[in-house]
Amino acid sequence: MIAANLEIRGADLYFAGRRTADLAARYGTPLYVMDEATVRRNCRRYRDAMRAAFGENALPLYASKACCFKELYRIVGSEGLGADVVSSGEIYTAREAGFDLAKTYFHSNGKTDDDIRFALECGVGHFVADNAEELTALSQIAAEQGKTQAVLLRVTPGIDPHTYEAVNTGRVDSKFGAPIETGAAMALTKLALSLPGIALTGFHCHVGSQLFDSDVLIRSADVMLRFIADVKAVCGYEASELDLGGGYGVRYVESDPVLDLEENIRLVAQRFHAVCADLGIAEPAVRLEPGRSIVADAGLTLYRVQSVKRIEGYKNYVAVDGGMGDNPRYALYRSLYTVVAADRADEPCDFVCDLAGRCCESGDLLRRDAALPAGIGRGDLIAVLTTGAYNYSMSSNYNRLPRPPVVLLREDGSEFIAVKGETFADLIRNDG
Ligand code: LLP
Repeated sequence: MIAANLEIRGADLYFAGRRTADLAARYGTPLYVMDEATVRRNCRRYRDAMRAAFGENALPLYASKACCFKELYRIVGSEGLGADVVSSGEIYTAREAGFDLAKTYFHSNGKTDDDIRFALECGVGHFVADNAEELTALSQIAAEQGKTQAVLLRVTPGIDPHTYEAVNTGRVDSKFGAPIETGAAMALTKLALSLPGIALTGFHCHVGSQLFDSDVLIRSADVMLRFIADVKAVCGYEASELDLGGGYGVRYVESDPVLDLEENIRLVAQRFHAVCADLGIAEPAVRLEPGRSIVADAGLTLYRVQSVKRIEGYKNYVAVDGGMGDNPRYALYRSLYTVVAADRADEPCDFVCDLAGRCCESGDLLRRDAALPAGIGRGDLIAVLTTGAYNYSMSSNYNRLPRPPVVLLREDGSEFIAVKGETFADLIRNDG
Protein backbone atom coordinates (compact mmCIF):
# COMPACT_ATOMS: atom_id res chain seq x y z
CA MET A 1 0.00 0.00 0.00
CA ILE A 2 1.16 3.55 -0.63
CA ALA A 3 1.45 4.47 3.05
CA ALA A 4 2.49 2.70 6.25
CA ASN A 5 -0.82 3.39 8.03
CA LEU A 6 -2.81 1.32 5.48
CA GLU A 7 -3.33 -2.42 5.65
CA ILE A 8 -5.61 -5.02 4.08
CA ARG A 9 -6.97 -7.77 6.33
CA GLY A 10 -9.27 -10.19 4.57
CA ALA A 11 -11.80 -8.16 2.61
CA ASP A 12 -11.24 -5.03 4.70
CA LEU A 13 -9.12 -1.93 4.40
CA TYR A 14 -7.69 -0.86 7.77
CA PHE A 15 -6.45 2.66 8.40
CA ALA A 16 -4.31 3.45 11.43
CA GLY A 17 -5.30 0.04 12.81
CA ARG A 18 -9.06 0.66 12.43
CA ARG A 19 -11.43 -1.22 10.16
CA THR A 20 -12.73 1.42 7.75
CA ALA A 21 -16.11 -0.37 7.46
CA ASP A 22 -16.62 0.17 11.21
CA LEU A 23 -15.82 3.87 10.90
CA ALA A 24 -18.27 4.25 8.00
CA ALA A 25 -20.98 2.42 9.96
CA ARG A 26 -20.39 4.61 13.04
CA TYR A 27 -20.14 8.05 11.42
CA GLY A 28 -21.80 7.65 8.02
CA THR A 29 -20.41 8.65 4.64
CA PRO A 30 -18.88 10.69 3.13
CA LEU A 31 -16.38 10.76 5.96
CA TYR A 32 -12.98 12.40 6.31
CA VAL A 33 -10.72 10.32 8.53
CA MET A 34 -7.44 11.66 9.96
CA ASP A 35 -4.71 9.65 11.65
CA GLU A 36 -3.16 11.66 14.49
CA ALA A 37 -0.07 9.46 14.81
CA THR A 38 0.86 10.11 11.19
CA VAL A 39 0.44 13.89 11.56
CA ARG A 40 2.70 13.77 14.61
CA ARG A 41 5.26 11.56 12.90
CA ASN A 42 5.40 13.93 9.92
CA CYS A 43 5.82 16.95 12.22
CA ARG A 44 8.67 15.25 14.09
CA ARG A 45 10.45 14.27 10.91
CA TYR A 46 10.59 17.91 9.80
CA ARG A 47 11.49 19.20 13.25
CA ASP A 48 14.30 16.70 13.80
CA ALA A 49 15.67 16.81 10.25
CA MET A 50 15.73 20.61 10.20
CA ARG A 51 17.44 20.86 13.57
CA ALA A 52 20.02 18.27 12.57
CA ALA A 53 20.74 19.96 9.24
CA PHE A 54 20.34 23.70 9.95
CA GLY A 55 20.83 23.94 13.72
CA GLU A 56 18.67 24.51 16.78
CA ASN A 57 16.99 27.73 15.62
CA ALA A 58 15.52 26.17 12.46
CA LEU A 59 11.74 25.87 12.57
CA PRO A 60 9.15 24.12 10.38
CA LEU A 61 5.93 26.09 9.96
CA TYR A 62 2.85 24.01 9.20
CA ALA A 63 1.07 25.53 6.18
CA SER A 64 -2.46 25.71 7.56
CA LYS A 65 -4.07 26.05 4.12
CA ALA A 66 -3.51 22.31 3.59
CA CYS A 67 -6.00 21.52 6.36
CA CYS A 68 -7.27 23.80 9.07
CA PHE A 69 -9.29 23.08 12.19
CA LYS A 70 -8.67 23.71 15.87
CA GLU A 71 -7.45 20.27 16.91
CA LEU A 72 -4.87 20.24 14.14
CA TYR A 73 -3.32 23.47 15.51
CA ARG A 74 -3.20 21.81 18.95
CA ILE A 75 -1.40 18.80 17.50
CA VAL A 76 1.18 20.67 15.41
CA GLY A 77 1.66 23.18 18.24
CA SER A 78 2.37 20.40 20.73
CA GLU A 79 5.00 19.05 18.33
CA GLY A 80 6.77 22.40 18.50
CA LEU A 81 5.97 23.63 14.98
CA GLY A 82 5.04 27.17 14.03
CA ALA A 83 2.35 27.86 11.43
CA ASP A 84 1.95 29.63 8.13
CA VAL A 85 -1.45 31.35 8.09
CA VAL A 86 -3.00 33.12 5.11
CA SER A 87 -6.16 34.78 6.36
CA SER A 88 -7.85 36.24 9.41
CA GLY A 89 -9.96 33.07 9.46
CA GLU A 90 -6.91 30.87 9.88
CA ILE A 91 -5.49 33.25 12.50
CA TYR A 92 -8.80 33.16 14.36
CA THR A 93 -8.89 29.34 14.27
CA ALA A 94 -5.29 29.14 15.55
CA ARG A 95 -6.04 31.64 18.32
CA GLU A 96 -9.17 29.79 19.43
CA ALA A 97 -7.15 26.56 19.50
CA GLY A 98 -4.67 28.17 21.89
CA PHE A 99 -1.86 28.08 19.31
CA ASP A 100 1.13 30.28 20.16
CA LEU A 101 0.53 33.12 17.68
CA ALA A 102 4.07 34.38 18.17
CA LYS A 103 5.02 31.37 16.05
CA THR A 104 2.71 32.26 13.14
CA TYR A 105 3.76 33.79 9.82
CA PHE A 106 1.01 35.69 8.05
CA HIS A 107 1.05 35.31 4.25
CA SER A 108 -1.25 36.53 1.46
CA ASN A 109 -0.93 38.96 -1.41
CA GLY A 110 -4.27 40.57 -0.59
CA LYS A 111 -4.33 41.47 3.10
CA THR A 112 -6.96 44.09 3.86
CA ASP A 113 -6.61 46.80 6.50
CA ASP A 114 -9.00 44.74 8.64
CA ASP A 115 -6.77 41.68 8.28
CA ILE A 116 -3.71 43.73 9.23
CA ARG A 117 -5.45 45.21 12.27
CA PHE A 118 -6.77 41.84 13.41
CA ALA A 119 -3.40 40.12 13.00
CA LEU A 120 -1.64 42.87 14.95
CA GLU A 121 -4.22 42.69 17.73
CA CYS A 122 -3.84 38.92 17.90
CA GLY A 123 -0.06 39.20 18.15
CA VAL A 124 0.87 37.34 14.97
CA GLY A 125 4.64 36.85 15.19
CA HIS A 126 5.60 37.67 11.63
CA PHE A 127 3.99 39.18 8.59
CA VAL A 128 5.22 37.92 5.25
CA ALA A 129 4.67 41.12 3.29
CA ASP A 130 3.94 40.70 -0.40
CA ASN A 131 3.99 44.22 -1.83
CA ALA A 132 4.60 47.94 -1.18
CA GLU A 133 0.95 48.81 -0.54
CA GLU A 134 0.74 46.20 2.20
CA LEU A 135 3.98 47.37 3.80
CA THR A 136 2.81 50.97 3.85
CA ALA A 137 -0.57 50.07 5.35
CA LEU A 138 1.09 47.80 7.91
CA SER A 139 3.50 50.54 8.88
CA GLN A 140 0.62 52.99 9.45
CA ILE A 141 -1.59 50.58 11.39
CA ALA A 142 1.33 49.32 13.52
CA ALA A 143 2.17 52.95 14.35
CA GLU A 144 -1.48 53.59 15.35
CA GLN A 145 -1.29 50.62 17.70
CA GLY A 146 2.15 51.69 18.98
CA LYS A 147 3.72 48.45 17.73
CA THR A 148 6.72 47.39 15.73
CA GLN A 149 5.95 44.33 13.63
CA ALA A 150 8.47 41.69 12.58
CA VAL A 151 8.26 41.28 8.81
CA LEU A 152 9.68 38.99 6.15
CA LEU A 153 9.46 40.05 2.53
CA ARG A 154 8.17 37.63 -0.06
CA VAL A 155 10.42 37.62 -3.08
CA THR A 156 10.42 35.47 -6.20
CA PRO A 157 13.68 33.74 -7.00
CA GLY A 158 12.76 33.11 -10.64
CA ILE A 159 12.67 29.33 -10.40
CA ASP A 160 10.20 27.16 -12.27
CA PRO A 161 9.78 23.83 -10.48
CA HIS A 162 7.90 22.32 -13.47
CA THR A 163 5.02 20.98 -11.44
CA TYR A 164 1.48 21.90 -12.37
CA GLU A 165 0.66 25.50 -13.33
CA ALA A 166 -1.72 26.37 -10.48
CA VAL A 167 0.96 25.75 -7.86
CA ASN A 168 3.96 27.36 -9.57
CA THR A 169 4.66 30.39 -7.45
CA GLY A 170 8.37 31.15 -7.63
CA ARG A 171 8.60 32.41 -11.21
CA VAL A 172 9.37 36.02 -12.04
CA ASP A 173 5.85 36.53 -13.45
CA SER A 174 4.12 35.11 -10.36
CA LYS A 175 1.32 37.08 -8.69
CA PHE A 176 3.19 36.60 -5.41
CA GLY A 177 5.98 38.69 -4.00
CA ALA A 178 8.58 40.89 -5.65
CA PRO A 179 10.94 39.47 -8.27
CA ILE A 180 14.65 39.59 -7.53
CA GLU A 181 15.50 39.67 -11.23
CA THR A 182 13.74 42.97 -12.03
CA GLY A 183 15.07 44.87 -9.01
CA ALA A 184 11.61 45.00 -7.42
CA ALA A 185 12.73 42.88 -4.44
CA MET A 186 15.59 45.26 -3.67
CA ALA A 187 13.23 48.25 -3.93
CA LEU A 188 10.77 46.57 -1.54
CA THR A 189 13.63 45.90 0.88
CA LYS A 190 14.66 49.55 0.86
CA LEU A 191 11.06 50.56 1.51
CA ALA A 192 10.75 48.10 4.43
CA LEU A 193 13.97 49.41 5.96
CA SER A 194 12.74 53.00 5.70
CA LEU A 195 9.28 52.57 7.25
CA PRO A 196 8.46 53.06 10.93
CA GLY A 197 6.71 50.20 12.71
CA ILE A 198 8.40 47.59 10.52
CA ALA A 199 11.26 45.40 11.79
CA LEU A 200 12.58 43.52 8.79
CA THR A 201 13.83 40.07 9.85
CA GLY A 202 14.45 38.44 6.50
CA PHE A 203 13.07 37.00 3.29
CA HIS A 204 10.64 34.36 2.09
CA CYS A 205 10.10 32.44 -1.11
CA HIS A 206 7.95 29.50 -2.15
CA VAL A 207 8.59 27.91 -5.50
CA GLY A 208 5.82 25.32 -5.83
CA SER A 209 4.20 22.12 -4.63
CA GLN A 210 4.56 18.37 -5.15
CA LEU A 211 8.36 18.68 -5.35
CA PHE A 212 10.39 15.50 -5.16
CA ASP A 213 13.67 16.88 -6.35
CA SER A 214 15.88 18.59 -3.77
CA ASP A 215 17.49 20.51 -6.60
CA VAL A 216 14.62 23.02 -6.72
CA LEU A 217 15.04 23.96 -3.07
CA ILE A 218 18.83 23.95 -3.37
CA ARG A 219 18.62 26.39 -6.28
CA SER A 220 16.16 28.64 -4.48
CA ALA A 221 18.32 28.65 -1.31
CA ASP A 222 21.23 29.62 -3.52
CA VAL A 223 19.39 32.53 -5.18
CA MET A 224 17.95 33.73 -1.87
CA LEU A 225 21.34 33.73 -0.11
CA ARG A 226 22.89 35.65 -2.98
CA PHE A 227 20.07 38.17 -2.65
CA ILE A 228 20.73 38.43 1.11
CA ALA A 229 24.39 39.12 0.32
CA ASP A 230 23.41 41.79 -2.25
CA VAL A 231 21.11 43.45 0.28
CA LYS A 232 23.94 43.45 2.80
CA ALA A 233 26.24 45.12 0.25
CA VAL A 234 23.67 47.69 -0.92
CA CYS A 235 21.76 48.50 2.29
CA GLY A 236 24.13 47.36 5.05
CA TYR A 237 21.29 45.18 6.35
CA GLU A 238 21.81 41.48 7.10
CA ALA A 239 18.80 39.16 7.21
CA SER A 240 18.41 36.93 10.25
CA GLU A 241 15.67 34.66 8.83
CA LEU A 242 15.27 32.79 5.56
CA ASP A 243 11.98 31.05 4.82
CA LEU A 244 12.20 28.69 1.85
CA GLY A 245 8.46 27.90 1.76
CA GLY A 246 6.78 24.52 1.45
CA GLY A 247 6.31 22.08 -1.35
CA TYR A 248 7.71 18.65 -0.57
CA GLY A 249 5.68 16.05 -2.45
CA VAL A 250 3.60 13.10 -1.27
CA ARG A 251 2.62 9.78 -2.85
CA TYR A 252 -0.90 9.80 -4.22
CA VAL A 253 -0.35 6.77 -6.47
CA GLU A 254 2.20 3.96 -6.63
CA SER A 255 4.07 5.65 -9.47
CA ASP A 256 4.83 8.74 -7.33
CA PRO A 257 8.38 8.60 -5.99
CA VAL A 258 9.20 7.96 -2.33
CA LEU A 259 10.80 11.12 -0.97
CA ASP A 260 13.76 10.82 1.37
CA LEU A 261 12.88 13.91 3.39
CA GLU A 262 15.85 13.77 5.75
CA GLU A 263 18.29 13.38 2.85
CA ASN A 264 16.63 16.20 0.89
CA ILE A 265 16.84 18.56 3.85
CA ARG A 266 20.44 17.51 4.45
CA LEU A 267 21.36 18.32 0.84
CA VAL A 268 19.70 21.74 0.98
CA ALA A 269 21.51 22.48 4.25
CA GLN A 270 24.84 21.37 2.81
CA ARG A 271 24.54 23.97 0.04
CA PHE A 272 23.17 26.53 2.50
CA HIS A 273 26.20 26.26 4.82
CA ALA A 274 28.63 26.35 1.91
CA VAL A 275 27.04 29.38 0.22
CA CYS A 276 26.78 31.37 3.48
CA ALA A 277 30.48 30.75 4.13
CA ASP A 278 31.35 31.59 0.55
CA LEU A 279 29.42 34.87 0.59
CA GLY A 280 30.58 35.83 4.07
CA ILE A 281 27.07 36.25 5.48
CA ALA A 282 25.82 35.14 8.88
CA GLU A 283 23.64 32.02 8.61
CA PRO A 284 20.01 33.09 8.85
CA ALA A 285 17.55 30.94 10.85
CA VAL A 286 15.80 28.68 8.34
CA ARG A 287 12.07 28.08 8.06
CA LEU A 288 10.24 25.60 5.84
CA GLU A 289 6.48 25.63 5.36
CA PRO A 290 5.28 22.07 4.72
CA GLY A 291 1.54 21.65 4.33
CA ARG A 292 0.72 18.68 2.12
CA SER A 293 3.56 16.53 3.46
CA ILE A 294 2.35 16.97 7.06
CA VAL A 295 -1.29 15.96 6.54
CA ALA A 296 -1.88 14.29 3.15
CA ASP A 297 -1.05 10.69 4.07
CA ALA A 298 -2.72 11.19 7.47
CA GLY A 299 -6.09 11.34 5.72
CA LEU A 300 -8.49 9.27 3.69
CA THR A 301 -12.11 9.74 2.65
CA LEU A 302 -14.81 7.09 2.80
CA TYR A 303 -17.79 7.02 0.43
CA ARG A 304 -20.65 4.65 -0.34
CA VAL A 305 -21.34 3.52 -3.86
CA GLN A 306 -24.75 4.70 -5.07
CA SER A 307 -24.82 3.38 -8.62
CA VAL A 308 -22.83 1.46 -11.20
CA LYS A 309 -23.40 2.40 -14.82
CA ARG A 310 -22.05 0.38 -17.73
CA ILE A 311 -22.33 2.29 -21.00
CA GLU A 312 -21.71 -0.58 -23.42
CA GLY A 313 -18.94 0.14 -25.91
CA TYR A 314 -17.99 3.37 -24.11
CA LYS A 315 -17.17 3.45 -20.43
CA ASN A 316 -18.28 2.63 -16.92
CA TYR A 317 -19.11 4.84 -13.98
CA VAL A 318 -19.27 4.15 -10.27
CA ALA A 319 -21.04 7.03 -8.52
CA VAL A 320 -20.57 7.77 -4.84
CA ASP A 321 -22.26 9.97 -2.23
CA GLY A 322 -19.58 12.70 -2.28
CA GLY A 323 -17.35 14.29 -4.88
CA MET A 324 -16.14 17.75 -5.85
CA GLY A 325 -17.83 19.29 -2.81
CA ASP A 326 -15.49 17.44 -0.45
CA ASN A 327 -12.61 16.98 -2.91
CA PRO A 328 -12.37 19.45 -5.83
CA ARG A 329 -8.84 18.45 -6.78
CA TYR A 330 -9.66 16.31 -9.81
CA ALA A 331 -11.94 19.02 -11.17
CA LEU A 332 -9.29 21.69 -10.57
CA TYR A 333 -6.01 19.94 -11.30
CA ARG A 334 -6.80 16.49 -12.75
CA SER A 335 -5.13 15.13 -9.62
CA LEU A 336 -4.67 11.40 -9.28
CA TYR A 337 -5.71 9.40 -6.25
CA THR A 338 -5.57 5.76 -5.28
CA VAL A 339 -9.04 4.27 -4.91
CA VAL A 340 -9.77 1.13 -2.91
CA ALA A 341 -12.96 -0.92 -2.55
CA ALA A 342 -12.65 -0.84 1.24
CA ASP A 343 -14.98 -3.79 1.96
CA ARG A 344 -13.93 -5.88 -1.08
CA ALA A 345 -10.21 -5.28 -0.80
CA ASP A 346 -9.37 -8.96 -1.39
CA GLU A 347 -11.10 -9.12 -4.79
CA PRO A 348 -9.33 -8.68 -8.13
CA CYS A 349 -9.76 -5.20 -9.57
CA ASP A 350 -10.54 -5.68 -13.25
CA PHE A 351 -13.52 -3.35 -13.62
CA VAL A 352 -12.22 -0.08 -15.05
CA CYS A 353 -14.50 2.87 -14.37
CA ASP A 354 -14.59 6.57 -13.67
CA LEU A 355 -15.33 7.26 -10.01
CA ALA A 356 -18.01 9.93 -10.24
CA GLY A 357 -19.17 12.38 -7.61
CA ARG A 358 -22.81 13.22 -6.96
CA CYS A 359 -22.79 16.86 -8.09
CA CYS A 360 -24.86 17.97 -11.06
CA GLU A 361 -21.82 18.58 -13.22
CA SER A 362 -20.09 16.11 -15.53
CA GLY A 363 -16.64 17.33 -14.46
CA ASP A 364 -17.36 16.07 -10.94
CA LEU A 365 -15.05 13.06 -10.85
CA LEU A 366 -12.81 11.75 -8.10
CA ARG A 367 -10.72 9.58 -10.39
CA ARG A 368 -10.67 8.67 -14.04
CA ASP A 369 -9.95 5.00 -14.91
CA ALA A 370 -10.15 3.58 -11.43
CA ALA A 371 -9.81 -0.21 -11.19
CA LEU A 372 -12.43 -1.76 -8.90
CA PRO A 373 -13.84 -5.26 -8.32
CA ALA A 374 -16.36 -6.35 -10.97
CA GLY A 375 -18.97 -7.13 -8.32
CA ILE A 376 -19.04 -3.61 -6.88
CA GLY A 377 -22.53 -2.30 -6.25
CA ARG A 378 -24.75 0.06 -4.31
CA GLY A 379 -23.83 0.24 -0.63
CA ASP A 380 -20.21 -0.87 -1.09
CA LEU A 381 -17.54 1.18 0.58
CA ILE A 382 -14.94 3.17 -1.35
CA ALA A 383 -11.83 4.71 0.18
CA VAL A 384 -9.97 7.49 -1.60
CA LEU A 385 -6.49 7.55 -0.09
CA THR A 386 -4.14 10.42 0.79
CA THR A 387 -6.87 13.05 1.09
CA GLY A 388 -5.60 14.76 4.26
CA ALA A 389 -4.32 17.81 2.37
CA TYR A 390 -6.37 20.31 0.36
CA ASN A 391 -9.61 18.33 0.59
CA TYR A 392 -11.44 19.47 3.72
CA SER A 393 -9.75 22.89 3.43
CA MET A 394 -10.97 23.32 -0.16
CA SER A 395 -14.41 21.81 0.36
CA SER A 396 -17.56 23.71 -0.51
CA ASN A 397 -21.33 23.50 -0.18
CA TYR A 398 -21.81 23.32 -3.94
CA ASN A 399 -25.23 21.82 -4.67
CA ARG A 400 -26.01 22.56 -1.01
CA LEU A 401 -24.30 19.41 0.09
CA PRO A 402 -23.32 19.53 3.76
CA ARG A 403 -19.62 19.11 4.42
CA PRO A 404 -18.74 15.72 5.95
CA PRO A 405 -17.35 15.39 9.47
CA VAL A 406 -13.63 14.97 10.18
CA VAL A 407 -12.98 12.10 12.56
CA LEU A 408 -9.56 12.01 14.17
CA LEU A 409 -8.15 8.61 15.07
CA ARG A 410 -6.20 9.12 18.28
CA GLU A 411 -2.96 7.36 19.09
CA ASP A 412 -4.58 5.83 22.19
CA GLY A 413 -7.22 4.08 20.08
CA SER A 414 -10.03 6.56 20.76
CA GLU A 415 -11.82 8.66 18.16
CA PHE A 416 -12.49 12.39 18.26
CA ILE A 417 -14.89 14.33 16.05
CA ALA A 418 -12.49 17.12 15.12
CA VAL A 419 -15.07 18.80 12.87
CA LYS A 420 -18.77 17.99 13.07
CA GLY A 421 -20.59 17.14 9.88
CA GLU A 422 -22.79 19.98 8.68
CA THR A 423 -26.55 19.73 9.04
CA PHE A 424 -29.23 21.12 6.75
CA ALA A 425 -29.76 23.83 9.40
CA ASP A 426 -26.08 24.80 9.00
CA LEU A 427 -26.70 25.24 5.29
CA ILE A 428 -29.36 27.92 5.78
CA ARG A 429 -27.82 29.52 8.88
CA ASN A 430 -26.82 32.70 7.06
CA ASP A 431 -29.74 32.91 4.63
CA GLY A 432 -31.88 35.99 5.10
N1 LLP B 1 3.96 28.20 1.77
C1 LLP B 1 3.39 28.95 0.84
C2 LLP B 1 3.70 30.36 0.75
C3 LLP B 1 2.46 28.38 -0.05
O1 LLP B 1 1.90 29.14 -0.99
C4 LLP B 1 2.14 27.01 0.05
C5 LLP B 1 1.18 26.39 -0.83
C6 LLP B 1 2.77 26.26 1.07
C7 LLP B 1 3.69 26.89 1.89
C8 LLP B 1 2.50 24.80 1.29
O2 LLP B 1 2.83 24.03 0.22
P1 LLP B 1 2.76 22.43 0.32
O3 LLP B 1 3.85 21.96 1.28
O4 LLP B 1 1.42 22.09 0.86
O5 LLP B 1 2.95 21.96 -1.06
N2 LLP B 1 -4.54 23.67 -3.57
C9 LLP B 1 -3.37 23.10 -4.20
C10 LLP B 1 -2.11 23.49 -3.50
C11 LLP B 1 -1.90 24.95 -3.46
C12 LLP B 1 -0.67 25.27 -2.69
C13 LLP B 1 -0.55 26.73 -2.50
N3 LLP B 1 0.52 27.09 -1.67
C14 LLP B 1 -3.54 21.57 -4.24
O6 LLP B 1 -4.60 21.08 -3.84
O7 LLP B 1 -2.63 20.87 -4.71
